[in-house]
Amino acid sequence: MRVVVSIGGSVLAPELDPGRVEGHAAVVESLAREGCEIAAVVGGGGVAREYITAARDLGANEVQLDQIGIDVTRINARLLIAALGERADPTPAYDYDEAGDAIRRGDITVMGGVMPGQTTDAVAAALAEYVNADLLVYATSVDGVYSADPRSDDGAEKFPELTPTELVEVIVPMSRDAGSSAPVDLLAAKLIERSGMRTIVLDGTDPARVEAAVLRGEHGGTDIVPESGGEPSYWAQR
Ligand code: UTP
Repeated sequence: MRVVVSIGGSVLAPELDPGRVEGHAAVVESLAREGCEIAAVVGGGGVAREYITAARDLGANEVQLDQIGIDVTRINARLLIAALGERADPTPAYDYDEAGDAIRRGDITVMGGVMPGQTTDAVAAALAEYVNADLLVYATSVDGVYSADPRSDDGAEKFPELTPTELVEVIVPMSRDAGSSAPVDLLAAKLIERSGMRTIVLDGTDPARVEAAVLRGEHGGTDIVPESGGEPSYWAQR
């Protein structure tokens, strides 16, 4: 079973806390011990936001800001690698080929961003398609995909299940807001739609939820189920 786990920056590193990073690493290691070929994609978190705000004040353009964001995601990747130890490729993958090579070697691979104009949500979706993953899991700071931002709209309803096309339809209006509240970005949703990737969006603040979702499909978030089904076959054996 091959799995891509996207650990959002706000989940892995809202601020720098070695204990939190250790908790996520322990789950990734445990999944690897269970026989998962696993790739983790990590976001920038609070540190990225601080750098981007400071650089914006200094007059950096949007591409330069994205480059700073990418650098911070790669530093966070190194942080997770430090906690993972021996089974992880010691260098963050800089592109999909490097990540694919590491997985084929049997290493846990960790990567951050790759190019301006997107977020690590899209990196995770592209990597999942590239390595032909059985499952893509987004560990985010919200517990699924809602009809509106649950933090600001009391009437927001959580979707237990969506097709990839429905996911795109839900995300499109959210992406038009400034400071988008979308749980995954629009490019990621479109990549999931294109690949028909079986995906879960869940609250990853407790990393144990990622483990239950990957191993057994048990979670309280949102299942993105392609029209073809695409249930990972290993779930049936557990
Ligand atoms: P994140 O993936 O963490 O972005 O990348 P985010 O979704 O805005 O942050 P969280 O998860 O909610 O905290 C951080 C920043 O790095 C740049 C973008 O500027 C992004 O906002 N980035 C990341 C890229 O430009 N390209 C990438 O491939 C990845």
